[in-house]
Amino acid sequence: MSNEQTFIAVKPDGVQRGLVGDIISRFEKRGYKLVALKMVSPSKEHLEKHYEDLSSKPFFNGLVTYMLSGPIVAMVWEGRDACKTGRSILGATNPLASAPGTIRGDYAIDVGRNVCHGSDSVESAKKEIALWFKPEEVQSYKSAQFDWIY
Ligand code: RTP
Repeated sequence: MSNEQTFIAVKPDGVQRGLVGDIISRFEKRGYKLVALKMVSPSKEHLEKHYEDLSSKPFFNGLVTYMLSGPIVAMVWEGRDACKTGRSILGATNPLASAPGTIRGDYAIDVGRNVCHGSDSVESAKKEIALWFKPEEVQSYKSAQFDWIY
């Protein structure tokens, strides 16, 4: 059993389109454990910090504007290989390249409206979790189903 954690967010379009429950359900059913969850409307500065690695990209301003367009559901999911497998549950960044059965492959078309975010590495996840959550907002508990999953 691993306690690797990943930061997953439902972006404003995913919230507005009523996809929060489905996205949570996919992670739950796969066997991951939800350890933090909140709906937030982050500041421009917060989002610029979150995407600071992309600050030189031509789409950066549009990306921040998109992320400011409505509330976001921020989550931390825990389990073996949570970062890599979390990204595979989300699908490719460009929804048109995402396989059916992934979140983006099932629900999105445009790269600028791709419904969800997932940490791309364990290192990124640690930084993102620290940016979006206070330590006391991330729970530690034994999930009854773990004995059936691992
Ligand atoms: P995310 O951080 O949202 O999970 O996405 P990602 O790692 O799969 O992709 P990344 O390259 O980090 O891009 C972050 C977000 O920027 C938007 N984007 N727009 N060409 C474009 O217009 C473009 N490329 C990327 C997407 O919303 C992407 O998720």
